[in-house]
Amino acid sequence: RKRFRVQDFARAKEEGRKLTMLTAYDGVTARIFDHAGMDVLLVGDSIGNNMLGHENTIPVTLDEMVVATRSVSRATTYAMVVADLPFGSYEASPRDAFVSAARLLKEGGAHAVKLEGGARIHDHVRLLTESGIPVVGHLGLTPQSENMLGGMRVQGRGDAAAERLCQDALSLQDAGASAIVLEAVPTPVAARVTEILAIPTIGIGAGSQCDGQVLVWTDMAGMNDWSPSFVRTFGEVGKALEDATRAYIAAVRDVSFPDEDHSFAR
Ligand code: KIV
Ligand code: NA
Repeated sequence: RKRFRVQDFARAKEEGRKLTMLTAYDGVTARIFDHAGMDVLLVGDSIGNNMLGHENTIPVTLDEMVVATRSVSRATTYAMVVADLPFGSYEASPRDAFVSAARLLKEGGAHAVKLEGGARIHDHVRLLTESGIPVVGHLGLTPQSENMLGGMRVQGRGDAAAERLCQDALSLQDAGASAIVLEAVPTPVAARVTEILAIPTIGIGAGSQCDGQVLVWTDMAGMNDWSPSFVRTFGEVGKALEDATRAYIAAVRDVSFPDEDHSFAR
């Protein structure tokens, strides 16, 4: 199977085929998600609160993203690997965005990058796409701005906010973005953005009208004690891993492991 490419974003939207996207932070899990047929793996800066022990995404560094991205990209053969530009690595100028994004491609092996924001980063996105770096946008709830947004809450409610969201989406499309993630947006607003854009929308907490869906893998697989209300748990992997761990501990303690089958007789 040939690797998923940015051109497949547009093709999927034209053909009405839903796009699938999941976060991945390391090679062990990325290999599984790739084998299962996920179109896009997102090395999200949600690595901060899901893997690195931070409260949110803000402390995540570009160096950490490079390491995680390299681990994910080396483990995949089909999925397109999109890496987040972390907070502080791109906002100040298009040049910052290019220098940071180039590291994610050259050192990390990413195929595309994702940035948070709309019209504000139009010129950043334009420089990236004109320089050969595919871009995925991210609008609605943008966690890197949670201090300005007043917490993790639904965005785009009300006519003015919905209109601003549409304008931001069109601005990103104009700058050459290949797709846009819509996070925590009312279903009708996400549907409207999806309708006015030629490029696909990928929703998370944005209803079923988007052209694709993305989830954080640890939420989706039942690894976390808490997850947002829009998440469905598709498996109890955390429970399965704990059970395996307990079984190993018990087998060592009662000396049923290692047995002769798992030892060298001589
Ligand atoms: O970092 C992340 O996991 C994300 C998704 C929620 C879209 O940006
Ligand atoms: Na992110």
